[in-house]
Amino acid sequence: MQYGYFDEQHREYVITNPNTPAPWANYLGSPEYGAIITVNAGGYSFVRSGAAGRILRYTFNQFDEPGRYLYLRDEETGDFWSASWAPVKKPLAEYKTECHHGTAYTEFISEYAGIRSRALYYVPLGSTHEVWSLQVENLSGRPRKISVFAYAEFTTESFYTQDLVNMQYTQFITRTEFLGDYILQHINEYCHRNPDGSNGSERFLGAAGAKVASYTGRREQFLGRKRFDAPQAVLDGACDNSLNYNGNPCGALQLRLELAAGGKKHAAFLLGQKTAAEARELLDRYQDPEKTVAEEKEALIRYWHGELENLKVQTPDDRFNVMVNTWNAFQCFTTFVWSRAASLIYCGERNGYGYRDTVQDIQGIIHLDPELARKQLTFMLSAQVHHGAGLPLVKYSHNPGHEDTPEQESYVKETGHPHYRADDALWLFPTVYKYIAETGNLAYLDEEIPFADRDVGTVREHLKRAIDFSMHHLGTHGMPAGLHADWNDCLRLGATGESTFVAFQLYYALNIMQAFCREEPEYVAYLQAEAKKLLQIINDTCFEDDRFIRGYTEAGQIIGSKKDREASMWLNPQSWAVISGGATPEQAEIIMETAHEKLNTPYGLEVMNPAYRFEAFDGAAMILFNPGTKENGGVFCQIQGWAILAEALLGHGGRAFEYFAESSPASFNEDADRRVIEPYVHGQFIEGHDSPFAGRSHVHWLTGTASTVMVGCVEGILGLRPTPEGILVKPAIPKEWDGFTMEKNFRGRKLRITVDNTAHKEGNPVRYILNGAERPVEVIPAADLLEENELTVIM
Ligand code: GLC
Repeated sequence: MQYGYFDEQHREYVITNPNTPAPWANYLGSPEYGAIITVNAGGYSFVRSGAAGRILRYTFNQFDEPGRYLYLRDEETGDFWSASWAPVKKPLAEYKTECHHGTAYTEFISEYAGIRSRALYYVPLGSTHEVWSLQVENLSGRPRKISVFAYAEFTTESFYTQDLVNMQYTQFITRTEFLGDYILQHINEYCHRNPDGSNGSERFLGAAGAKVASYTGRREQFLGRKRFDAPQAVLDGACDNSLNYNGNPCGALQLRLELAAGGKKHAAFLLGQKTAAEARELLDRYQDPEKTVAEEKEALIRYWHGELENLKVQTPDDRFNVMVNTWNAFQCFTTFVWSRAASLIYCGERNGYGYRDTVQDIQGIIHLDPELARKQLTFMLSAQVHHGAGLPLVKYSHNPGHEDTPEQESYVKETGHPHYRADDALWLFPTVYKYIAETGNLAYLDEEIPFADRDVGTVREHLKRAIDFSMHHLGTHGMPAGLHADWNDCLRLGATGESTFVAFQLYYALNIMQAFCREEPEYVAYLQAEAKKLLQIINDTCFEDDRFIRGYTEAGQIIGSKKDREASMWLNPQSWAVISGGATPEQAEIIMETAHEKLNTPYGLEVMNPAYRFEAFDGAAMILFNPGTKENGGVFCQIQGWAILAEALLGHGGRAFEYFAESSPASFNEDADRRVIEPYVHGQFIEGHDSPFAGRSHVHWLTGTASTVMVGCVEGILGLRPTPEGILVKPAIPKEWDGFTMEKNFRGRKLRITVDNTAHKEGNPVRYILNGAERPVEVIPAADLLEENELTVIM
């Protein structure tokens, strides 16, 4: 079934049937003040940490409750409904509603009983409070009296788990106060008091634009013995002006609106973790809510649409366009900024950035905002230990030059990570390369950055040490050792086991590095020799006719041999053989074909096949999962991006696009019940053919899928491949396409590109016409570009 559509002009996903198969969500703000909001107005808010800075209570994995509720009540009839369909859930035959998820805002437009409401939720750009703006319009042709009740359920304290399970303490530390137009919540009120009476633990819900008619700060009073679909205060038509002292705090405010026929009223509710004085100041700023809200919404749109403007594509496939132009891009920014901090699946207990996750996430935004990418890249380089490895978890409080490391008890105690991963620092190579290629900023290589624990070195030095780390941890055959895991968290090959995937990553790194060290011929010779040696070893020990094996365990057991009864074929060693340039053209054709044959499903490629059931080796932690799930034979979505890229690099546009289309959220828009999660954002995995629910996807929003699929689409299918010297454009597209256009901002210049596929090919364009002049299909040096350029790529 279909529940909504993509409004590409406004960069929104519009839900027209709110009875979605899961709470389809959106992200507002940033982790400084973060908010997740669903189609049910469910979700929560937090300051800096979803687990340790929680403001709004939310029960995971239940009924998508509570939420940011706005109830409307007809004072004459007593009938009531909500500005979002839930929580009241009036029959959809009478209640017309649209939920517009946009770029960092969500708006509900609903109509019921002759009243239209527009409830807009957002966090103003760069701010640490949230706004629920409500406009109520009387369409009924007669005067109406409408009450509005806003409800926010505060946590008793910032630690989410404490709030839920340590109630012998948390229920007795908070009270609420009413201060004319807002409810203020105090926590541990008399601890650490400042001269102004605040202690830094206050939160508030306030109303601007209309007078508060009644209030309560007690959940028990608001709800009575009812639930959110019919709270007692709304049934009664007023709150009882009671306040919380112990028990469950909330902010509930009633406004009474009198609307002439055709009249409109606007109010705004503000929420945040603020002292009384700060709340006052904020509320004063919204005394003309209509104006302030319109300005803030406009600023949000200008910022986000501005970020997304740097690449615009118009292909014959709308799914591809909406994903690349808006939703995959917005998701990339979300993973970039939020890492794995908070969702409806993660509550934010991980107190930092996963090394590989973040270095990969950065890749997803380089083509849109390379300078923002660079800041985070510099940060991640500063989280490399002096010997070159990446810290498995980079604390949010990371202090470069002064950090402890997995070698130390203190680090292990704080993060729970005693081991290095084989791959973490190797992700730096493609990420640094992409940044330099996008910007031409080769000087970045000479920038000095501290290591996590001690020493300072240039970016080049950081990369050298990353190579050293791999070279100092070689396994039995001379390939990089498996260590705790490689990209696959469930693959424990052991300290001297070896991963073919990491071997290809190292091979790739050794080659990228040659371009970064041109002035050091001896080092380049070393890199060349090592690359050659490594590739020889890979070919001698890991190639089996039609596939590369996955690796060797410490005990010498081959993983991923065609002779195995389980897990005989794995995707990543094949796609990475191609991406790294390690596979010969003949090998590349064969291995990608085997991948298609053995791993492809209607919903994308499985991570490996057959799933483990009876023959897993000791380090195969994926056996914990049901077959067809996650790393145990699921369609792991992140790796679709690499398969798309690999096929595109081979000029197989048909295959590349097939993999995009099979697993793309937008492909499920009309079959949304199969996918369950949002048809506009990628999930971590899709259940594979072993599952009775093949095609169902999980772990929405915060996943590495966003960046790899973006790279697969942009560098692969669109063929936009910047290099340090300039840019190569080598699309790989379905042969059915007649062509397509795109606009890219590149190093301050504009490129308007038309791809002409009247020849109906799927790759390997034959010539360029740049600003009227014929050119071969070769890197276009940046110096050859004008301010504005017309490039025709002839396939
Ligand atoms: C999860 C992890 C990521 C890992 C992947 C495969 O997505 O966040 O770090 O690479 O699973 O195991």
